[in-house]
Amino acid sequence: MTAPRTPKIPYGGDHNPEQWPEEVWDEDHRLFTQAGIDTLTVGVFSWSLTQPAEDTYDFTVLDRILDRAAAENRSVCLATGTAALPPWLAKKYPEVNRTDFEGRRHRYGQRHNFCPSSPAYHRLSTALAARLGERYADHPALLAWHINNEYGGACYCDLCAEAFRDWLRNKYVTLDALNDAWCTTFWSHRYTDFAEIEPPSALTEHWRGPDHTAFQGTTLDYFRFTTDALLGCFLAEKEAIRSRDPETPVTTNFMGLFRPLDYHRWAPHLDFASWDNYPPLDAPPTRPALAHDLMRGLKDGAPFWLMEQTPSTTACRDVNPLKRPGELRLTTFQAIAHGADAALYFQMRASRGACEKYHGAVVGHAGRDDTRVFREVAGLGRELELLGSATLGARTPARTALLFDWDSWWALEISDGPSRLVKYPDVVHAYYRAARKAGADVDVVPQTADLTPYDVVLAPTLHMVKGDLAGRLEAVAARGGTVLSTFLSGRVDEHDRAFLTDVPGPLADLMGIRIDEWDARPPEFVQPVPELGAAARLVFEIVLPRGAEAIATYGADFYAGTPAVTRHEYGGGEAWYVATALDQPGVDHVVRRILTRHGLLGPYANHPTVETAHRVAPDGTRLLFLLNHAQEPARLTAHATATELLTGKQVEAQDPLTLDPLGVAVLRLQ
Ligand code: GLA
Ligand code: ZN
Repeated sequence: MTAPRTPKIPYGGDHNPEQWPEEVWDEDHRLFTQAGIDTLTVGVFSWSLTQPAEDTYDFTVLDRILDRAAAENRSVCLATGTAALPPWLAKKYPEVNRTDFEGRRHRYGQRHNFCPSSPAYHRLSTALAARLGERYADHPALLAWHINNEYGGACYCDLCAEAFRDWLRNKYVTLDALNDAWCTTFWSHRYTDFAEIEPPSALTEHWRGPDHTAFQGTTLDYFRFTTDALLGCFLAEKEAIRSRDPETPVTTNFMGLFRPLDYHRWAPHLDFASWDNYPPLDAPPTRPALAHDLMRGLKDGAPFWLMEQTPSTTACRDVNPLKRPGELRLTTFQAIAHGADAALYFQMRASRGACEKYHGAVVGHAGRDDTRVFREVAGLGRELELLGSATLGARTPARTALLFDWDSWWALEISDGPSRLVKYPDVVHAYYRAARKAGADVDVVPQTADLTPYDVVLAPTLHMVKGDLAGRLEAVAARGGTVLSTFLSGRVDEHDRAFLTDVPGPLADLMGIRIDEWDARPPEFVQPVPELGAAARLVFEIVLPRGAEAIATYGADFYAGTPAVTRHEYGGGEAWYVATALDQPGVDHVVRRILTRHGLLGPYANHPTVETAHRVAPDGTRLLFLLNHAQEPARLTAHATATELLTGKQVEAQDPLTLDPLGVAVLRLQ
């Protein structure tokens, strides 16, 4: 199953009319029509409304909300509302409240607050989902199901401990296999009964904090267990809906580069991917782009939904900057350029009280339609109308893949040594950024992905190498492609046990190198890499070439003159290894050389602020998005004949093509 079929990009967002008297609903719908809003996400935090007591369900308000949406010709993405517990439930079944990392059993409060192993939670959340499925399956407004909200967070209660032990029994079958996987002979940890195993927490293996564990194997398995436990909650609700509604697509809103859950384990169970885009403060535009491409990669490149973004400002940070005029349009088109087939906001109307009262909304507390934000939202609504179905179902024709692996992320960041300063998303982003700035379309894929469609495979900090991956990477190079890997790759197996071979383990043959030792230094220490005019930091692996040639070397210390970057000819292709955290110009240099070899530099690769992204519509039409991330106009020369879809203008090859500050063009190439 794929995302819902719609005649245009669904446009709208989270709508909470249950917080308002019905006169306000009239006003909402008037404003929505004015802004071209056709899709509302409804019911995300409605459990205490739809089930005010264990034996009482009340759908009168939700009925009215959906009926009203249908009467106004709007579609609804209907949430099951199970992400925030109603107070009666927490009081009656205290087991549903989470136990935190420090071992404190929480009392009622907050949201995203349930224990994934609680039988009461399972029973009541699926019962609610089943009733919603039954009641609204055939509702004319229903477009998609939105289960729960932003799943995340681990629990350390006794029920979870028991569920973890069951999960381990199922995975390892015998204690010998578990003891072997976790290296429990170290520090006298040999388990003689599954009942002795504790969830790794502040009270057990993590005396120094969440990323400091005495046993990485145990902690990795707890991350995997938590992923599966929350997935189990999702699946139970999905099944309850499916048995009443076999057709409407089901999703849950993800959070992009969200460390706690391995979304690749969830991906097969979603009908379509969707996610909430709140980029880190001051992130360059390639950071949300990376998250879009990661989310697109969940379903093999199928379009996803942008389920949330703020139209103006967030409220959850210490400091919440405002999107500048034009930024909302640009970030929305960026999402579409990377594969979004829906553009939704959090939220339609600002809530009156509680912690999100200052969160940006399409309609503010005064309910005006003459604010800058409303005007921008409405302007975008008109453009999406104009775009119609042109981008729907379109796919990205990428010949570059970037491997993204949650296990490697976890293993790297919970490792003691060589350096706690290496952050997986930062290294991945540096390589992604280099490729994107050079104009290459990039698929961000799991390590199990089919690599045969790609000329270039980037595998930065691939700390853990599992299954037949090394062989599949060798095959990429053998048929003429290029593989790149970096420092701290090929270090451990799926249980975080070091390979008993030369570093980088299973990648050593392909890379044509051997590494016996490595240096790690504080961030102020800069190691020059003279051939690239670049600087390197954090970790410096000392490479002994075994067939590879040095492309660049370290400029200082006792390992001066030894390779920092190597290239190994392998079959008809190449394998590159970058042994240190190069600065961005250094990474750019290496990645551009690789892309150039394969003719993958984009037509505007040399423009410093223009992002490009291709999509190919189901009928074969090729679209090129041009996004100017600067506050100044961008002057380009058109590389091909095209029609610009937002203005209808014809563009001839070699014509001047100017993008406004923060401007966007969508070229239909001929
Ligand atoms: C998340 C949630 C929303 C809302 C927004 C605010 O994405 O899903 O309910 O809290 O954040 O930014
Ligand atoms: Zn629990």
